[in-house]
Amino acid sequence: MTNKKITIKDAESNKEIDLPILESVLGPNVVDIKSLEKNLGLLSHDPGFLATSSCESKITFIDGNEGKLWYRGYPIEELAEKSNFTETAYLLLKNKLPNINDLELFSNDISNSYDVDSSIKDMINVFSKDSHPMAIMIACLSFLAAKHHKEINIQNEKYRYESTINLIASVPVISAWILNHILSNNFQKPNKSLSIAENFINMSFPELNEEQKNHSSKAMDIIFLLHADHEQNASTSTVRLSGSSETSPYAAIAAGITTLWGPTHGGANEAVINMLEEIKNSERDVEHYVEQAKDKENPFRLMGFGHRIYKNYDPRAKIIQKIAHEYLNKLDDNNPNKPLFDIAMKLEKHALEDDYFVSRKLYPNVDFYSGIVLKAIGIPQSMYTVIFALARTVGWVAHWNEMIEDKNFRIGRPRQLYTGKNKTSYKDIKDR
Ligand code: ACO
Repeated sequence: MTNKKITIKDAESNKEIDLPILESVLGPNVVDIKSLEKNLGLLSHDPGFLATSSCESKITFIDGNEGKLWYRGYPIEELAEKSNFTETAYLLLKNKLPNINDLELFSNDISNSYDVDSSIKDMINVFSKDSHPMAIMIACLSFLAAKHHKEINIQNEKYRYESTINLIASVPVISAWILNHILSNNFQKPNKSLSIAENFINMSFPELNEEQKNHSSKAMDIIFLLHADHEQNASTSTVRLSGSSETSPYAAIAAGITTLWGPTHGGANEAVINMLEEIKNSERDVEHYVEQAKDKENPFRLMGFGHRIYKNYDPRAKIIQKIAHEYLNKLDDNNPNKPLFDIAMKLEKHALEDDYFVSRKLYPNVDFYSGIVLKAIGIPQSMYTVIFALARTVGWVAHWNEMIEDKNFRIGRPRQLYTGKNKTSYKDIKDR
């Protein structure tokens, strides 16, 4: 808290009040408007949370203009180069990098929880193979919520740690089983000696040789790490709001998955692949599609370009572009995914030389290259958002823990601007 304040005056009543300004470590300071209603009888109004901070957080910092993304103060570029998904999960949860012992204990806690109740497989089997994997995933989280219902004790640190670990370990195993199911493969067993990414690849693609598994696990681990958190986005805010009612953490994560499923949140990388395939199969060159995206009469947009927050290159896109390059280079020249990457690179080059994209600060976002890598690994398109959810589970549980530990923790309850009817008398049906 600082002495900074903002004074606002109600022109009608001439009443003036001071509102304290809370100082952030980085990024805009915020005005504390809690006393607005008490002192002026007013509420603030900001649909879509365009200028509203919904909570205090120490987990992730984003500067969209500069293209910065930091987890607990560590730039994403450095973590992608030097860390891995498991260590980054520890960092997001515990606010520090682990030492060797910490990391070993944490990794063992996770792999010891790979043993997901196998009756969940019977439930997955109930879904037709063409069911959307995100719908199956929501049902699986509901299964876990039912199984762990009697233990709920969110104020207990031990309970929170156990459910956090259980979620981080179970969701990847369940995701692999969903993949096994939709590909009509046998359900594979988890292997406790493997990391989350290695185990996911091992369970999803048992037919690969060790070198191929290794190659795919490395790319997958970085994709998980890059998607692990992104501060107060729609699904994380959903997990916080849902969790604020003190519901089961499994149910709160199910709510987050439901929100992530939407095409304006987690579904854009599928759209990128569809666009690149269309360009590949058409007679036209990439310039035609860049022109089409600029035409206001045409609804076509360059998928994977532009972002509400990043008005600069999305730092995750740069890293995934490099991963795509390295991953595809190791595949043989006839691999059908290589032309998609070449088209994506050409599209990016043309768009970034074009004043339309430059003046609107439209740069490639994380989805522009992630679909290409996932496709090359062999993940079906309908599973892309599941991969995102699997990784984001770490961020969701980090935010859930932070919210409960917050001294101001209470149920989230937005207010409203009521624009409906005034008091109306009920008329009997025959008089209407
Ligand atoms: N192609 C062409 N023009 C675009 C694009 C695009 N991909 N994105 C934005 N524009 C233009 C808009 O037409 C608008 O032009 P105008 O000022 O002349 O009217 C201007 O750029 C600003 O665009 P908005 O839609 O107002 O930007 P907003 O912040 O609301 O939208 C969004 C961001 C939804 C990501 C948008 O850029 C988009 O639709 N991109 C394509 C879909 C996509 O890649 N989504 C994934 C986002 S990343 C994620 O969720 C993980």
